[in-house]
Order: sequence, then structure tokens, then C-alpha cells
Amino acid sequence: MKIVVIAGGLSPERDVSLSSGSMIANALIQNGHSVCLLDLYEGAHNEYESLFFDEASGKRYYYEVPRHEPDLKRLVEESGNDKSLIGRNVIEICKTADLAFLARHGDIGENGKLQAIFDVFGVRYTGTGYKGSLLAMDKDVSKQLMAASNILTPEWKLEDAQTDRLGADIAAFGYPCVIKPRSCGSSVGVTIVNDSGDLRPAVDYVRKYGKYALIERKITGREFSVGILGCDALPAIEIIPNEGFYDYRNKYQKGLTNEVCPAEIPDEAMARLKDAALRVHKTLCLGDYSRVDFIMDAGGNIYCLEANTLPGMTPTSLLPQEAAAAGISYAELCGRIAGLALARDGCDE
Ligand SMILES: Nc1ncnc2c1ncn2[C@@H]1O[C@H](COP(=O)(O)OP(=O)(O)O)[C@@H](O)[C@H]1O
Ligand SMILES: [Mg+2]
Repeated sequence: MKIVVIAGGLSPERDVSLSSGSMIANALIQNGHSVCLLDLYEGAHNEYESLFFDEASGKRYYYEVPRHEPDLKRLVEESGNDKSLIGRNVIEICKTADLAFLARHGDIGENGKLQAIFDVFGVRYTGTGYKGSLLAMDKDVSKQLMAASNILTPEWKLEDAQTDRLGADIAAFGYPCVIKPRSCGSSVGVTIVNDSGDLRPAVDYVRKYGKYALIERKITGREFSVGILGCDALPAIEIIPNEGFYDYRNKYQKGLTNEVCPAEIPDEAMARLKDAALRVHKTLCLGDYSRVDFIMDAGGNIYCLEANTLPGMTPTSLLPQEAAAAGISYAELCGRIAGLALARDGCDE
């Protein structure tokens, strides 16, 4: 089968996506497919066939996530200030393939816009359709839907991030709290604000990543994530950073976070986490797979932070570890995700 792996793009999670995409491309090549790894923003030249590699080519991709978030301004300048978020020939190349495997994280590609465009052009793609992608990417909307479905999520407020009032809004909300962009991922723009001393840098940081910010009650407890594959919840993973919280560096630099899978918790707590993840997946209209993030407080209450429609597939990512704990190898996981997409009949309603 011919598969285009879509990665890169122009989001703060560009590097993470290139790392996910490289690993997925290698796995699909190993599974016997003919694979093209395509940067959503940069696109490619016209000779489409030369972009596809199979096992016989010996091609293997490698991409390590740098310690810091990418300089997107420079990338745009280097590309001649091209404002188009879909690069040259991307749609055309995808139309020549059997499947677009989405390895995007952040904005177009994860927020439903690319999914809607693919629906229009008849391109088959992996994961979730445009509707669920949009609902999950917007943390304010997804938390409203969770709350309406009696799924516990930390108390929050949505505020305009660009006004001078934001600092006062946070102080009025009360400490400790968490400030995060409305629609981002990989902990980009996220700060835990313990007291007024943390306020200024938190405000400056979140402002860089969108018009709106969420102020959320900080939940003290143990952090877990639960992957959904097809109709099943995978074993929960516990996330224990050596220092601080699960921020960008702790997510992608090897050895900075201890991940325990299956999480060492009583069966009853594991069952509640899986049940909550399946409920979130359903409530947000998610598709073939997802990963849902939680914090459990000392009283055993499970708070859902968010759902990810295109969870990371990098060497340090959680979903592949959860799949491994269920006896599913990385290559098999990619094969299953591709298989689920091909088995789907048509696109979102
Ligand atoms: N309300 C909260 N209480 C405690 N920690 C939080 C809270 N919200 C976020 N965090 C921490 O920040 C990380 C990133 O937040 P999350 O909402 O999952 O956004 P992202 O989409 O960037 O992953 C979480 O994995 C967790 O470690
Ligand atoms: Mg998260």
C-alpha cells in the first residue's frame, strides 16, 4: 500500500511531529508499505514517485526533538514568507496514495481543518474526523462537554490572553492554578502558578500561543494517561517527572520522567481510569484512537485534563508504551491505526 505520513507543519509542536512521523514512517516501511514522509508546511517537488520508499530501499528516518521549541518565525522567513499552511503538492501527493497517516501535532492537522480538507478531496486519513478533532483541540469546549457529561475536570475560566487584565484575572481566580493556551499541546505555553511571583512569566508565556488562555485549578496528585485503540482502553501509564511537572522538556528529553506502565494502582482505580477515558473519547466524538490525560487526587478523584486525538509517537511518548504493555509492538500499533482508517466507511457526518 502507498502511505503518506504527514508531519512537521507550522505549529510549536513541529519538531515533536517530525519525530513521531519519522518513527511511524520507519514502522510502516517495516510493515511492507511504500511510504512518503511529508512536511505539511514545506510540501515537496513534483516528482511524487521518488518520494516513496519501501523496505528494499533501505531508507530509515531519524529525528531527535531539540531541547527547546522551534523558531517558527525563522522557518517562515527561510521559506520566502509563505503564509500557506499546506505546502506545495501536499494534497496532490496524498491523492496518489491509499492513505494519509497523520503524525501532526498542533493547529491544522490536529484541529480538524486538514481533516475537513481531506474529506472534501476524498483523501483517507488516520485517527479522528474534523468534528472530534476540533472538539478535543479546544480545551474550553472539550471541558464544557466533559462537565455536561458528568466527567470530572478541574474548575476553569477562559480569558482573553492579550489584555492587560490577565494577571489580575489569575490573581482573582486564586493560587495555585495552571495557565495554559486554549488550543495547544506538548505543554507548550503551560505554567503552574503557585503564587503571585510566578504570574508575570506565566502571562508572557501563554500570550505567545493564542488569543485565549485557560486559568485552571491546580490538582495535586498522581498523573496518568490512558490510550484508546479501536473500542478498547489500553493500560493506564503513570507519569512521574524527576523534577517539576510534565512540561515540554520532561516530555521529550530521555530520562527526565519516569513512566510506569501498567500504572501501579489497585484494579479498581485502573478500571475507573479506563472507564473515564472511554467516556471522554465518546463524549468528544473521537475516532480510531486517542489518549486521555488525568490527575488523581489524594481522595481518589479522577480529573480529566484533556484528550489528544493525535497523541505523540516519539521514542519517549506514552501511547506506544501503553500499547507495548498490552502486547502490541510499535509497528503493530501503526498497522492497527492504518487498518482502522481503511476499515472506516466514508467520513464524518
Ligand atoms: N489542572 C492541572 N493541575 C495540575 N497539573 C496540570 C493541570 N493542568 C495541566 N497540568 C500539567 O501540565 C501538563 C500539560 O497540560 P495539558 O492540559 O495536558 O496540556 P497539553 O495539551 O499541553 O498536554 C499536564 O500533563 C500536567 O502535568
Ligand atoms: Mg496533555
